[in-house]
Amino acid sequence: MLIDGFQRVHDYLRISLTDNCNLRCNYCMPADKNDFTAPANLMQAHEIFQIAEIFSQLGIRKIRLTGGEPLIRKDAAEIIERLSSLPVELTLSSNGILADRFISCFKQAGIKSLNISLDSLHADKFARITHRDYFAKVFSNIQLLLKENFHVKVNMVVMKGVNDDEITEFVNLTREYPLHIRFIEFMPFTGNKWNSDQLFSHEEILNRLSSTFDYIKLKDGKHDTTRKFKVIGYEGTFALISTITEPFCSGCNRLRLTADGKMKNCLFSKGETNLLAAFRKGDDIIPLIKENIIAKKAERGGQFIEPDGIRDPASIVNRSMVAIGG
Ligand code: GTP
Ligand code: 5AD
Ligand code: SF4
Repeated sequence: MLIDGFQRVHDYLRISLTDNCNLRCNYCMPADKNDFTAPANLMQAHEIFQIAEIFSQLGIRKIRLTGGEPLIRKDAAEIIERLSSLPVELTLSSNGILADRFISCFKQAGIKSLNISLDSLHADKFARITHRDYFAKVFSNIQLLLKENFHVKVNMVVMKGVNDDEITEFVNLTREYPLHIRFIEFMPFTGNKWNSDQLFSHEEILNRLSSTFDYIKLKDGKHDTTRKFKVIGYEGTFALISTITEPFCSGCNRLRLTADGKMKNCLFSKGETNLLAAFRKGDDIIPLIKENIIAKKAERGGQFIEPDGIRDPASIVNRSMVAIGG
């Protein structure tokens, strides 16, 4: 089992397949990013499988594929198919643009649930945030996934003055659709020009929604990043992911592998362990994995809490979000 210094058992691995994407969201990809990892330096399909197999032998029970956008990899279907032979729950976080092409692949791999990013329900605003004109495609793919009986969670990064005026509209979707909307507090990463004025907090979201909806609190799981709610009588649910104002690290069970094969023990970890380089040399990576996990900090990579509060985001040492995988 993979246990850190705080007795947290880690059984959930997020594997990024690429640091490139078919969108250019302001909050995720730095405007000047042009140093995408060269294909030879990405983990290859067989390496992803073999490294994932080692993690599964160490107790990983859930694997989430992330990006960038995982489905833009030419070998995405092959990777999904290979990973589906492991005794893990396999799932993906995607922007949904290519989802229609993967329906049968997802089904064959036993994928039951997908997380799809969508930050606006208006095509013009979607294009301003993402720099691409794909709103209609993403929305119709979300409907298609529902029709095909997938459990669909929608991730909306709430940014004050950008899309906070749409949270009511997003919750309205859950009246008709069995969708699970997750409002995510905007987080600071390298190159995303985060500043606290753009944060629309957990509390502000609930205050806004309570003036329109009668909702109830649902029970959360021990390892959930979300606090879940449901409007009485609606088909779907909504939830909050409040990393900034109400972190949930005490139940953390997650590890990350970047597309270039570096292990991160936290979304905000400073340190990384180059598992791919060791694996390519034929070294045993298990001691490296264990060393990495034992170095995990109690909360948010140890980078936020200072005696005087939240540290200046510019001083956080990390990658850009697109290069971590969320
Ligand atoms: P499930 O709980 O498996 O549905 O996935 P998830 O919600 O954790 O994954 P997803 O990729 O949909 O991420 C949604 C948001 O949660 C993103 O903004 C992620 O960065 C954030 N997130 C995911 N995992 C963590 C984590 O371990 N810590 C923190 N602080 N945020 C996370
Ligand atoms: N803050 C919060 N969430 C983010 N994501 C990407 N960048 C950020 C950020 N700066 C989300 C995406 C995607 C998920 C994997 O991470 O919207 O849904
Ligand atoms: Fe886990 Fe780090 Fe996320 Fe906290 S911020 S829940 S420790 S990955």
